Amino acid sequence: MKKVVIGIIGSGFAAGLHLEAYQYVRGIEIQIKAISSLAPNLREYANAHGISDIYTDYREMLNDPEISLIDIIVPPALHTQCILDALHAGKHVICEKPLTGYFGKDKDPLPIGKKVDRQKMMDTVMEEMNQLKKRSCCIRKIIYVR
Ligand SMILES: NC(=O)c1ccc[n+]([C@@H]2O[C@H](COP(=O)([O-])OP(=O)(O)OC[C@H]3O[C@@H](n4cnc5c(N)ncnc54)[C@H](O)[C@@H]3O)[C@@H](O)[C@H]2O)c1
Repeated sequence: MKKVVIGIIGSGFAAGLHLEAYQYVRGIEIQIKAISSLAPNLREYANAHGISDIYTDYREMLNDPEISLIDIIVPPALHTQCILDALHAGKHVICEKPLTGYFGKDKDPLPIGKKVDRQKMMDTVMEEMNQLKKRSCCIRKIIYVR
């Protein structure tokens, strides 16, 4: 049976949903080998889910050649960089919604949603989307139904 070895980025609320969902995967063998997070209880969290390897810097996890799929479950402002880093390392990627968005630049007036020009926000998001498209073979939306 085909085996997929997974590294997860994030150990918060939604990571729990993914870890539960992986238990329902049929037809391929799944191994969650590693997890990266900034959470102080990461070792305990990994042990509780049978995950052997932990990393505070997710980029180190990307160096593990056994891992073929990175599951990104961090705050949305980090999605694009995590995806690009994972693709650059030759990994397949699952990313939580929203794929990306406009989260502000250094000198943006606050509140961003009211004071930053909408066209600027749209252009920035489209530029990020184009970067992702250039690096990936395909982008698919996946919906899990139990
Ligand atoms: N599908 C759903 O029903 C659902 C529900 C909630 C959240 N989400 C999505 O899931 C994602 C995560 O949300 P959440 O509620 O789990 O957030 P959370 O705040 O509970 O967890 C975020 C996790 O990311 C980790 N993290 C932050 N920066 C990091 C970094 N640089 N390197 C490694 N780990 C880092 C934190 O340590 C934490 O474990 C978001 O994109 C959110 O929109 C989806």
